[in-house]
Amino acid sequence: MNHTVNIFLIGPMGAGKTSVGKLVAKTLGLEFFDSDSVIEELTGANIPWIFDIEGEEGFRAREKRAIDWLTKKKGVVVATGGGVVLNPENRKNLAANGLVFYLNVSVDEQLRRTYRSRNRPLILNQKPKETFERLHQEREPLYREIAHFTIDTNHGSIKTIVDTILQCINSE
Ligand code: S3P
Repeated sequence: MNHTVNIFLIGPMGAGKTSVGKLVAKTLGLEFFDSDSVIEELTGANIPWIFDIEGEEGFRAREKRAIDWLTKKKGVVVATGGGVVLNPENRKNLAANGLVFYLNVSVDEQLRRTYRSRNRPLILNQKPKETFERLHQEREPLYREIAHFTIDTNHGSIKTIVDTILQCINSE
């Protein structure tokens, strides 16, 4: 693996970006970052707190700074937050500085994977299904706009998904 290459994972909540990203990084001997964790460390507070105090707008400003920093690195695997593509500069930075993998997942599978999550303010409401559907409508074109590869994560183990990603990288 060329250590100047970066791998960026985008896609909705529950697509498996963090689990898949960790294993891709381990397999290739690259450094792994989760942009939400980077934001939490830099802020000294967790994501629900940031949304509570600063609103989504404050969170997006912090996310933008984290993406600016992460996309200047070389040889990293980054799992991004589901809303990262809303900002055009984030889209530009990700597409220009690495291979972008869009991990997609159905709304039903998202619901199954996230029903116990307490760390995702956007779905701490009574209607997570409607929320996932709305976010899908709004964001799917943005994911597609910058994805170099799109991978379905509804079926198969993390290992199988990672193998598919490695094949894509080798085909480059
Ligand atoms: C968000 C997704 C979350 C996190 C924040 C907002 C979104 O990340 O960044 O709660 O807008 O879809 P994950 O996709 O890792 O859950």
